[in-house]
Amino acid sequence: MYYIGIDLGTSAVKLLLMDSAGAILNIVTREYPLLFPHSGWSEQNPEDWIEQTVSGISELTDGFDKSKIAGIGAGGQMHGLVALDKDDNVLRPAILWNDGRTAKETEWLNSVVGREKLSAYTANIAFAGFTAPKLLWMKNNEPELFDKIDKIMLPKDYINYKLSGVHCTDYSDASGMLLLDVKNKCWSKEMLDICGIREEQMPHLFESYQAVGTITAEMSSLLGLPENTVIAAGAGDNAAAAVGTATVGDGHCNISLGTSGTIFISSEKFGVDKNNALHSFAHADGKYHLMGCMLSAASCNKWWQNEIIGTKDYKGEEGKITADMLGNNHVYYLPYLMGERSPHNDSFARAAFVGMTMDTSRADMTLAMLEGVAFGIRDSLEVARSLGIDVRRSNICGGGAKSPLWKKILANILNLELDSIETEEGPGYGGAILAAVACGEFASVGDAASRLVKVKSTVTPEPEIVAAYEQRYQVFRTIYPALKPIFPKM
Ligand code: XUL
Repeated sequence: MYYIGIDLGTSAVKLLLMDSAGAILNIVTREYPLLFPHSGWSEQNPEDWIEQTVSGISELTDGFDKSKIAGIGAGGQMHGLVALDKDDNVLRPAILWNDGRTAKETEWLNSVVGREKLSAYTANIAFAGFTAPKLLWMKNNEPELFDKIDKIMLPKDYINYKLSGVHCTDYSDASGMLLLDVKNKCWSKEMLDICGIREEQMPHLFESYQAVGTITAEMSSLLGLPENTVIAAGAGDNAAAAVGTATVGDGHCNISLGTSGTIFISSEKFGVDKNNALHSFAHADGKYHLMGCMLSAASCNKWWQNEIIGTKDYKGEEGKITADMLGNNHVYYLPYLMGERSPHNDSFARAAFVGMTMDTSRADMTLAMLEGVAFGIRDSLEVARSLGIDVRRSNICGGGAKSPLWKKILANILNLELDSIETEEGPGYGGAILAAVACGEFASVGDAASRLVKVKSTVTPEPEIVAAYEQRYQVFRTIYPALKPIFPKM
């Protein structure tokens, strides 16, 4: 049988066709616009996601025996608010995971409702990108639209709704709304009340590997797919990527170097970081995970190369960085182009280069940018280490992980062995695996991942470079606290 995996990302939707043995038969990528209507705001049109996903599926399956397609599973950008009216029309552009407009609402939730209560209700505190502060923002700033909300969902849930006709979400993605009682896997009545939302407005909850239904007759004839094509609930993109890299079960780690940068630690048991610096979310394998998320990771590289130095030749730029430069750079970079989530929770934070001299070269600045992102991930890894979690190795995926140089920098800054997986399509591959489990092809997510996912190569840290980076990290971690009071004045 064949399975379609959807990775509904921030810059594009990536679709893949996988067979029962886990081989990828085809991949299609379709881009759509990302809108920044104000500084620090970030939106997308849900209709663009649908248009590109539907036409992308047609292209993906063209020339293949469509009668063999058994299921579809999606991993999607998390936290985005999709609000529908009573006729299921989109009320406004989706407010995305990296949107920082809710500083006031986030502060109100954390200080007036209080972090302790939020953590007791949901296992998490408020961060600007989470869905609940966005609902409060709509209530405060767009009350007429807020009153028209009939259904709330997350980005990949809107795709699933269009494919299946079911208002659904899964526990991993729902965890990032700050509306789910993560431990007990149900909507938090307290949080719904705080946000002025009724439970009927929320989507039905499923495990990621459960079928929410089958494809609608309309979509089946539009796409030429069998009428009984199963639609799996799918997962947030980080949980889906974790499935796609076999980061399931207890104590495994995955780093995703995409538009965002995340460090994801799977756990059999529910647990909360006492300072709530790491998110405590449900996993797509039916268990739990802790996660740190930085808002600008590979997007720093894209911004620096495309917008600032004006090139698309990433390889050429990295080629100017020689091996002896690793660990010896005098320039530092703070990667907070969209504010920062983990661990600072500061939507006023901004990016900065620090330490340039007259002999600073373009290569020094490019290297500082790559290192700054790695230091940002190290900040979250340090939180995990402070909780007694002993991480020694990690899987790595995402667009940034295609750069051997960046992987080497990361391995040495984090002092971790980094495993790359044969299939580099983390969330899309995870989505296809979830569809295969929903169709009964495998007994469980763990079973599927252990059979299908294979490590391709490993980068090992080198003690001398690790020691040099350790010193630099100790300097890096003092820069944000020094600049923090200045950012709100900007
Ligand atoms: C995770 C997060 C990002 C998005 C990116 O909490 O906000 O990783 O899911 O798509």
